[in-house]
Amino acid sequence: MTSISVVGCGYLGAVHAGVLASLGHEVVGIDVDASKVDSLTLSEPPFYEPGLNKLLADSQASGLLRFTTDFSSAKGATVHFVCVGTPQRAGELGANLDYVNSAVASLSTHLNHGDLIVGKSTVPVGTAEMLAKSIASAPGASLAWNPEFLREGHAIEDSISPDRLVYGVEEGEVGRRAVASLDEVYAQLLKRGTKRLVTDRATAEMVKTAANSFLATKISFINAMAELCEAAGADVAQLADAIGMDDRIGRKFLNPGLGFGGGCLPKDIRAFMARAGELGADQALTFLREIDSINMRRRIRMVDLAREVCDGSFIGRKITVLGAAFKPNSDDVRDSPALNVAAQISLQGGDVTVTDPRAIDNARKLFPNLSYNANVYEALEHTDAVLLLTEWDEYRELDPADIKRLVGRAAVLDGRNVLDPQKWREAGWLYRALGRR
Ligand code: UDX
Repeated sequence: MTSISVVGCGYLGAVHAGVLASLGHEVVGIDVDASKVDSLTLSEPPFYEPGLNKLLADSQASGLLRFTTDFSSAKGATVHFVCVGTPQRAGELGANLDYVNSAVASLSTHLNHGDLIVGKSTVPVGTAEMLAKSIASAPGASLAWNPEFLREGHAIEDSISPDRLVYGVEEGEVGRRAVASLDEVYAQLLKRGTKRLVTDRATAEMVKTAANSFLATKISFINAMAELCEAAGADVAQLADAIGMDDRIGRKFLNPGLGFGGGCLPKDIRAFMARAGELGADQALTFLREIDSINMRRRIRMVDLAREVCDGSFIGRKITVLGAAFKPNSDDVRDSPALNVAAQISLQGGDVTVTDPRAIDNARKLFPNLSYNANVYEALEHTDAVLLLTEWDEYRELDPADIKRLVGRAAVLDGRNVLDPQKWREAGWLYRALGRR
């Protein structure tokens, strides 16, 4: 058993703390936000993640997990994970490192000889080296980087059964000690055969941003193909299936549609470009600018398609948007493509109603002027166009024949390519999708 502190109990930190406690470690989660600490102590995290409430409740009941605002609680721990956010800096492409800097500064006054700080946040390459210098005043403490690859909505399974563990450590004896400490933390995962890769710190930092950039590239690639399919009268869904059957390409992350959003992919590719510029290697990542613009074009295209279906104008038209979260099984609305489209249509005069099983409260904070209805059937009443923009299971499973009697005009726009066009057409709907005939 290792005694661990987790600094920053937002999405990443809360999940990480809960999972480490479930692996048998003694964990204290530290956050400066007292209301967050209170809700985590009640096992009611301020965000939705399947299974997290139970994980926190079980771990706290076992006595292995607690949450506090008091940084001095880190004193008893030997491994300290830094899990704070690195949002996009306002008005710039780069990441805001204020939270990381302040977390490490607060920790450093409570470190003991031999303690290990482990960065988990997504940071620009070079951050670990800079932080390592800043803890030089805490003699005998060292710093490693261990990026996190969890997906929202699958955070617990991704943490317990990750594809790989990456340890970025210093050279020499200090690095070997860091590897041994991390091996102890992840002993159960390693016993099950989880792959582990030991690198230098800069490489570990880059593994995360490179992986997210690759995923974003895959999505924008297929969405660029969707643009071409529309022009050529081809079908991007079949194209994705066919090229995805090539093992070298793979079908995952080739789902065409409205593109990516959320708190990670968009800001990570922008921060990566900004960092490349600082390092004098901006040319290497100029393609990511194109990845970003292909992605943003999806939203405009969706609005155009909706307008077309509404005979050229949204004025006097009722539009129902299915989904507000940036992806299903999440209540996260950060950079949500669905809300962006809803807001654009509303600005152009459409009478928009947004529905979502989990994200309405968060959506309302961000876009207070849109109308919301948590009941999907009420949201569909008398509508002129249904836009499926976040592919929650309950929207995939809607019965076209059943809901046809609710709507004013049976027109559906499948923004995520998850509906069966034939089924909807046979039920009398006008079916349209991005990249399909
Ligand atoms: C991502 C990475 O997957 C994860 O490894 C990293 O740790 C954090 O960033 P997340 O943001 O939770 O995770 O969501 P993800 O499942 O990757 O989806 C991101 C966005 O891409 C969503 O908006 C999703 O709808 C979109 N997407 C995904 C597509 O448009 N097409 C796809 O084929 C896959």
